[in-house]
Amino acid sequence: MREKWWHRLVGYQIYPKSFQDSNSDGIGDIPGIIRRLDLLQELGVNMLWLCPVYKSPMMDHGYDISDYTKIDPMFGSREDLKRLIREANERGMTVLMDLVINHTSDQHPWFQEARKDPEGKYGKYYVIRKGSKDTPPNNWRSLFGGSAWERMGESDYYYLHLFTVGQPDLNWENEELREELYRMVNDWLELGIGGFRIDAISHIKKDFSYRNLPADGPDGLHAGMRWFRNVEGIETFLNELKQRTFQKYDCFTLAEVDDIPEDRLNAYIGEDGYYCSVFDFCHCFHNQQDGVWKGRWKEMLADIRDRVFARQAEMEGKGFFCNYQENHDMIRVPDRFLPKEKQNFYSLSMLPVLYFYLAGIPMLYQGQEIGMTGYPRERIEEYADLATYNNYQGYLLDGMSEKEALDKINATSRENARTPMQWSSEAFGGFSDVEPWFPIHPDYEVCNVEAQRMPGSLREFFRKVVALRRNGTYEDTWIYGSFCPREQESRQLWGFERRREGQRLAVLVNFSDEPAVTAKPWNIRKVLLDNYEARETAARGEGCGVVVLQPWQALVLELELDHELHSFK
Ligand code: GLC
Ligand code: CA
Repeated sequence: MREKWWHRLVGYQIYPKSFQDSNSDGIGDIPGIIRRLDLLQELGVNMLWLCPVYKSPMMDHGYDISDYTKIDPMFGSREDLKRLIREANERGMTVLMDLVINHTSDQHPWFQEARKDPEGKYGKYYVIRKGSKDTPPNNWRSLFGGSAWERMGESDYYYLHLFTVGQPDLNWENEELREELYRMVNDWLELGIGGFRIDAISHIKKDFSYRNLPADGPDGLHAGMRWFRNVEGIETFLNELKQRTFQKYDCFTLAEVDDIPEDRLNAYIGEDGYYCSVFDFCHCFHNQQDGVWKGRWKEMLADIRDRVFARQAEMEGKGFFCNYQENHDMIRVPDRFLPKEKQNFYSLSMLPVLYFYLAGIPMLYQGQEIGMTGYPRERIEEYADLATYNNYQGYLLDGMSEKEALDKINATSRENARTPMQWSSEAFGGFSDVEPWFPIHPDYEVCNVEAQRMPGSLREFFRKVVALRRNGTYEDTWIYGSFCPREQESRQLWGFERRREGQRLAVLVNFSDEPAVTAKPWNIRKVLLDNYEARETAARGEGCGVVVLQPWQALVLELELDHELHSFK
């Protein structure tokens, strides 16, 4: 595999609205991010992904862009962004921007023009179809609930919005539009960013070869995914996008694409793929508070292990997934993976070890390093997110009581991960000196960065996890080594090896609250990381080489080379 600069990235996702306020308006901003760069450097990451900071009416918190060329004044200025890029670079970090090109805001001047003349130049920038007074062009359901079509005034025209009603989908079939987008992408790359996280890109091609499908819910609509996700022919657009923009800058591209069939992985993220990497979403619907996994956290973690390992095998030698546990679109991982009463230093510290040493690019989300969690709201009005609100309405429509619907929202809403970052025990957690746009979690007084800048804390453990991932003695094995699952018969162990000529590294985690013993001997040469080390004596290999693990114990190991491995290529 050809080596690339971005193979060495360890990412940190920033949700700017909730990261750090610098001008006392209760909203996070770019100067605020700059103020916290030293702490990010201390954590050890070398790539920052910023969720959108472009001009936006914020109907979807910035994923609805009304001017691609400007920074929203709420976040600062272009100069601020330039300074952020420079200061991040000086600290060895590269900055990724979010690229949202499946849709714009309905406040974008293109769409304003389209409204005036749906058949005109800008009408052709969007997906506009004719329906009739009460009947949209078809019964697709928006990914955020309700019909995916919105009528344009009193006319027969409807525009498509796969997301909120304020996010009309762009018409990628139109070459003129594509050219505008490529110019815009290149302009940002000229500024010196390291690349992009690419939003909702699997939806840019639509298949209109039918009108209505059988309803799959009480709303009479149909979740038409296969008609607007990874639709055949999308490859042409993706190739063109890459060739006209990213490739010229050798930038890093990380795309939001799920359900890529195994036989297309190579086309997507192989050496000459459309993108450098895509997120491995294989666990994103696993939530021990909800749905099929409710109350079955142990089985769920075993299931996640099996899925993640299968994805690793599929990807072996082909390219790089981006591995993560949290982002701005799902609840915090402690709540998703573990019941409240099982959340403690040991269980929380084993979580990053599960994924940081897999093949791929590891990513953290702000606040994950201090173990931030969601906190349940008492009224639906306390949420600000439109998608959350739509889901709530959907649950009521499905027959749930208000209490049941709210419980489900508290257990699942993505907004649980968007509370302000907890920096200190000062008022408003050091995030702002005024009331934040979204209430901070009341546990900030104990759970905050300042309190955790000391030995034995969760954040210190995360620092070690990152440092070991980037340690020059082992890094090439983490990046290029083969992946070999181990202890797969166990329902409580997460074990695998990464092998490269002359080196055998391994991860062995007990993801349960009961002690565990390995089935096979593990020939440990050296313990590189142990979440029990700082507090108690670690469990070690016993005489015969099997390993006894404490509840939640997470070990990263260097193993003895065996005969077979001396000849391993
Ligand atoms: C992506 C983003 C999400 C956003 C949506 C629409 O899924 O991660 O936050 O709402 O796209 O842009
Ligand atoms: Ca601010």
